[in-house]
Amino acid sequence: MALRQILTIPDKRLREKAKPVEKVDDRLRSLMDDMYETMTFDDQGVGLAANQIGVLERVIVIDIGPEYNKDPLFMANPEIISLSRDVITIKDGCLSVPEIYAETTRSERIVVKYLDRQNRERTLEASGLLSACLQHEIDHLNGILFVDHLTALKRKMVLAKALKKGKTNKKKS
Ligand code: NI
Repeated sequence: MALRQILTIPDKRLREKAKPVEKVDDRLRSLMDDMYETMTFDDQGVGLAANQIGVLERVIVIDIGPEYNKDPLFMANPEIISLSRDVITIKDGCLSVPEIYAETTRSERIVVKYLDRQNRERTLEASGLLSACLQHEIDHLNGILFVDHLTALKRKMVLAKALKKGKTNKKKS
């Protein structure tokens, strides 16, 4: 395993669309392990997409805690196949957008299809925080950042506030 550097805005790779992987093999598993190590290194990350370390492949890792996922989730080619109309609003943050936190509103429940670490096709039903986190990470694979969900005015406000506040220590993905 190896620690990778997390890219931050305005790095262009964060705005690119990641490509589907052909299969989950040893190379991909090693990428997943690096991502997990990088995400958990400073104990702030709960999710990471491959774009965030400059790898434009559709791979995400998520670990938001035992009440949501018993083991870390390693996913290749995650694809949302259904989204609920009910929504959830959470305080969002991102390792690639340092010091900025803002509420985003996303579907409360989703169903995701993906390939697991053994290259098996699986589906996962997620709700609440796990659902929001999955949507955040899958957005990354499409070059979308959580701040894109805010209005221009709100974006300006959180940016100004973040600059004033300085360093914080909250969970990010
Ligand atoms: Ni993020």
